[in-house]
Formats: sequence, C-alpha cells, structure tokens
Amino acid sequence: MRIAFGADHAGFELKERLVAYVRSKGHEIVDVGTHGLDSVDYPAFGRAAAQKVLDGEADRAVLVCGTGVGIGMSAGKLPGIRCAMVAEPYSARLARRHNDANALAIGSRVLGPGSAEMIVDQFLDTGFEGGRHARRVGMIEVPGDSR
Ligand code: RB5
Repeated sequence: MRIAFGADHAGFELKERLVAYVRSKGHEIVDVGTHGLDSVDYPAFGRAAAQKVLDGEADRAVLVCGTGVGIGMSAGKLPGIRCAMVAEPYSARLARRHNDANALAIGSRVLGPGSAEMIVDQFLDTGFEGGRHARRVGMIEVPGDSR
C-alpha cells in the first residue's frame, strides 16, 4: 500500500521511525512533513496527510502529534476521513475491522516506539469486516442519519 504520514514537531521523531518501519514492510511512503523539530501547527499536517487519502494518492494515513488528539481531530473534520485516535493495538485492530478507519492518529508523548509499531501493524494489516459494519460506517458520513 501507499501510506501518507503527517506529524507536528512533537510527533516528528516518532514519525521518522515509523516511516522507516513501514517502508521496511514494503509499503510506499508519502511524507507530508513536518521535517524537523521547529514548532509547527498540527492541523496543517494532519489535513495534508489525510487529503492524500481523499485524493487517491495514498491508501491510508498515519498521523503523529504529542497526544494524537489534535492531529486526529483535524483530520477527522475532512468528509470521508475516518480517523482512529488510539493508544493500544486492540483499538487499532477494531478500528479497521468495524470502522474501516482510513487514518490513524497516535501520540509520541504517550507511546513508546514499540507500542506505536504494534498499533501501526494492526492498522495496516487488518481488513474491514463489512456487513452490518458497512451500514454503520455509511451512517458516520451522513450527519443526522440515525436510520
Ligand atoms: C504540541 O505541543 C502539542 O499540543 C501537539 O503535538 C498535540 O499534542 C496536540 O494535540
């Protein structure tokens, strides 16, 4: 797959590590930055990476900030982006199986690198179950749809 990465200054170092890890698994990388430790604004980088998915230039996006919260909130505002903000692998797995998450947001200040890699593994290696979950995922995209 082709994976878009985006991070702010707090997420930069973990993003660099994850880019190398994901590349070593055979995936292509689209890295929208940031590319250093200077302070930047997480919404710009979260949205830029998520937009790659919407534009068909990436299959999924991995986003990193200090907590994963701000960058995940920012990406999730884009219609069509289903961003999972998680801190352990089980939720990453279920975000794929049940929610068809197409973006993942994690926090460099709350996760060690090994845990982050396990979460990314689940996000990239797990398929969507479909069925009843497809109907529910459809409801996410339509505000006010309670069927
Ligand atoms: C940056 O200091 C920090 O606010 C940001 O990385 C993130 O944690 C926000 O949600």
